[in-house]
Amino acid sequence: MDIKTLADFCAKVGIAFPTAEIYGGFSGFYDWGPVGVEIKNNVKRVWWRTFVHQMDEIVGIDGSIVTHPDVWKASGHVEHFHDVVTRCKKCGRAYRADKLVLEVLGINVEGKPAEEIDTIIRKNNVRCPSCGGELGPVEYFNLMFETKVGPYGGVTSYLRPETAQLIFVNFPRVYLLARKRMPFGIAQMGKAYRNEISPRNFLFRLREFEQMEIEFFFDPKDDACPYYNEVKGKKVLGLTAEMQERGEKERPMRIADLVPEMPGREWMIFWIAKSVDFFVSVGVDPKRIRVREQLPDERAHYSMGTWDVEFRFDDLGWQEIEGIAHRGTYDLSRHQEFSGKSFEAVRPDGSKFIPMVIEPSWGVERTILAMLYSAYRKDEKRTYLRIHPQVAPYVVAVFPLVSKDGLPEIAREIYKEIRTEFRAFYDEKGNIGKRYRRQDEIGTPFCITVDYQTREDETVTIRDRDTMQQERVHKDEVVAWIREHVKNWRV
Ligand code: ATP
Ligand code: GLY
Repeated sequence: MDIKTLADFCAKVGIAFPTAEIYGGFSGFYDWGPVGVEIKNNVKRVWWRTFVHQMDEIVGIDGSIVTHPDVWKASGHVEHFHDVVTRCKKCGRAYRADKLVLEVLGINVEGKPAEEIDTIIRKNNVRCPSCGGELGPVEYFNLMFETKVGPYGGVTSYLRPETAQLIFVNFPRVYLLARKRMPFGIAQMGKAYRNEISPRNFLFRLREFEQMEIEFFFDPKDDACPYYNEVKGKKVLGLTAEMQERGEKERPMRIADLVPEMPGREWMIFWIAKSVDFFVSVGVDPKRIRVREQLPDERAHYSMGTWDVEFRFDDLGWQEIEGIAHRGTYDLSRHQEFSGKSFEAVRPDGSKFIPMVIEPSWGVERTILAMLYSAYRKDEKRTYLRIHPQVAPYVVAVFPLVSKDGLPEIAREIYKEIRTEFRAFYDEKGNIGKRYRRQDEIGTPFCITVDYQTREDETVTIRDRDTMQQERVHKDEVVAWIREHVKNWRV
């Protein structure tokens, strides 16, 4: 499938569509429809439950989007958070220079200096893909959106380009609130903004998107992970930096063999394993997932090692959906230096240290894209989303077979009971076959139909979206049936 097919489908069924379509859209910005907003809230809820509610080490925060400008000076974003851009001298179109070189010449120059990329463009006579014009010099372009805060010109600030910094600046307070535990993590999810040079590929590269991030702090002198035995044998499709340098492809390997000796190595392995598990738990096809170590040139300025979880799209190839970075002590040290406040933690023996941090950073939209890509099915009869019940927009739809003879009254009663526990949808209009198809399209796993037999023996039919099989269940047992089937559903 190509990404355009998925984008058209998502617009049609009310998942996501370009913002302000009536004014021609606005590149890099999308709105979520009635179906999409449910899916998105569900993904975020499952993430929060998995990492905050089910991990004793982790607490959550919700930081501000417009942030004190000094945060971004200390973090290095003012200085380093840029992409390389080149503009066509003839038609004025702007391109991300590294992506252009990769697409046209097949050379990976991510992270290389602007001058080096400029030389490659000149030497190979790369021209504007749109009009064939000559390309201008390769320059740096900072991706942060600036904004003025306050009247009369105000103070220049930025919309956060990552949620992470709000976690770092709040570290001293939250560490105290968490009673000085170590290791410990802070989680946050919410909007992030990047003035991407060429937003594209539907939800993949946006200018406004959401992240789900964890900063996991640990003492480099006490960095054993108590869950290591559970994850060390786990296998994934893996690709180390060395394998890439030798021109090799990904292959099944133990996660433990992906990560070299480094402080917090066991935690890094743990976070890679948890990340892959999370994707699979929301329905991302494990056969399309690989974990790739970033090459040293690709890494962000703060990173001492980064592993990307990537998803294989048929048309876009392998693309990052999550980055897991070892940020060392970079951020806490920088904020300590710039603010003059202490960012140290205390060991049981009273000695002090700046914690190191591992950061898994998921994009909400890229997670959903991978999920929908994995779930989309089309055959001669129907299009359906084989989506996990815990993230489906509705878990159940309830229909009376016909809208007369007392069937709607019974169906409504069942619907009302179900929706106290599960997201449910009621529909009594039109042909039953069409009602099923409509639910298949948006991924509703179970459809309950009240028919004439219900009046006789109080049973209803429950239809399974994937197999289209129906079974009869007593109406008083419906809620328990759904509970059981949601719990046991596997990708
Ligand atoms: P890319 O190389 O594709 O630009 P990145 O390396 O800049 O991605 P990170 O900075 O590691 O991405 O951001 C962490 C996560 O945030 C990514 O894995 C992705 O899921 C999400 N993300 C980053 N930029 C965007 C964007 N422009 N649109 C949607 N999601 C994004
Ligand atoms: N916090 C990691 C990133 O957004 O790049």
